[in-house]
Amino acid sequence: MTVKNNRRKAELMPIALLTGATGYIGSHTCVELMTAGWAVVILDNLCNSSPVVLDRIAAITGQRPAFVEGDVRDRDTLNRIFSAHIIDAVIHFAGLKSVGESIAEPLRYYDNNVTGTLCLLEAMQAHDMRRIVFSSSATVYGMTDVMPLTEESPLGPINPYGRSKLIVEQMIGDVVVASPGWQAMLLRYFNPVGAHASGTMGEDPVGTPNNLMPYIAQVAVGRHPQLNVYGGDYATADGTGVRDYIHVMDLASGHVAALNRLDRPGTRSRSCINLGTGTGHTVLEMLRAFEATSGRSVPYRIVERRPGDCASCYAAVTRARELLGWQARRDLREMCADTWRWQSSNPGGYRGGVE
Ligand code: NAD
Ligand code: WQD
Repeated sequence: MTVKNNRRKAELMPIALLTGATGYIGSHTCVELMTAGWAVVILDNLCNSSPVVLDRIAAITGQRPAFVEGDVRDRDTLNRIFSAHIIDAVIHFAGLKSVGESIAEPLRYYDNNVTGTLCLLEAMQAHDMRRIVFSSSATVYGMTDVMPLTEESPLGPINPYGRSKLIVEQMIGDVVVASPGWQAMLLRYFNPVGAHASGTMGEDPVGTPNNLMPYIAQVAVGRHPQLNVYGGDYATADGTGVRDYIHVMDLASGHVAALNRLDRPGTRSRSCINLGTGTGHTVLEMLRAFEATSGRSVPYRIVERRPGDCASCYAAVTRARELLGWQARRDLREMCADTWRWQSSNPGGYRGGVE
């Protein structure tokens, strides 16, 4: 019997490799997985996250995940991880995610997101580890007025970030077709918001946030004077944009459901699945819900539409329900309350201090 097999017998827990899991979605998923009985190995180069999150995960779960500081494009690091641990499944969160940055620096985005996944898939194949859950995005869909977006809606990302996600989806699809034994879940997230209910983990964007919820939270805590609402003349209930906001802990439990579904009889070798609530909310609804739960006022002004924004975007959630037996449970009030608990107790995020 090999050393690995001996170690495996002693461990008994399934082991997941989570790339990019000191980041926002990965860290919350790590907590949910460890709570569900998985052991976790994290690989992250900390380019958009802080190692402090590992202490927070340990405080919540009572256990510290194994952590490797390194880049997913570093083949030696990947080989070391797959040699040292018997990994049962990989969740690939690691990636750059700013749409604006991707337009300014497309090659950096393709290198990090596409080459990073290529290196990961090669290492997985070499070590005969063929189960992967990938962080895709609703951004892969094309602009359309037909809502909700089903997994069959036309694809057509309009920026390099979105195209990098679609290329990776296609690359994984090609690998699944070419080599037997692969199982892949491509999870298309809608708009993740919220934080762990403890208030000790949440979203910690570097610099000024691009996304709505962290911006609202930073206005409420006094880091910005007001929110700029991008467009007040959309064909929506109050003229502001509609999105499908999903609590990050619901998203996290969606990953546990996806891992549990891999390898089960009847599961296709490659599935694309929307992870959203199926309900859209306008910018002003989000703002008012945040004010109501935080007790803070969030001043705003309506400005020009942001280029590239659509009026409405929300998910069809039937496939997630049928295939994963999963659906989002937390409502807008909980999304806002948890964001506020995190933001008000950590006004400077994990790094502390407020610029
Ligand atoms: P995040 O930036 O908080 O986390 C990503 C993590 O990956 C960070 O910790 C970063 O340091 C790490 N990382 C980046 N490149 C790496 C590399 N080459 N090697 C190792 N580590 C690397 O982002 P998030 O919001 O947690 O997003 C996680 C994933 O979900 C990303 O792939 C993102 O594109 C995708 N996604 C996010 C959203 C969203 O709105 N947050 C929506 C849809 C999809
Ligand atoms: C939501 C709504 C804005 C900020 C982006 C990415 C997408 C995905 C999730 C990764 C829109 C409005 C926003 C502000 C505002 N990420 N808004 N003032 O654009 O739906 O999606 O994040 O995959 O790829 O494109 O999210 O939070 O930026 O915007 O009025 O300061 O809030 O116009 O209607 P979006 P968002």
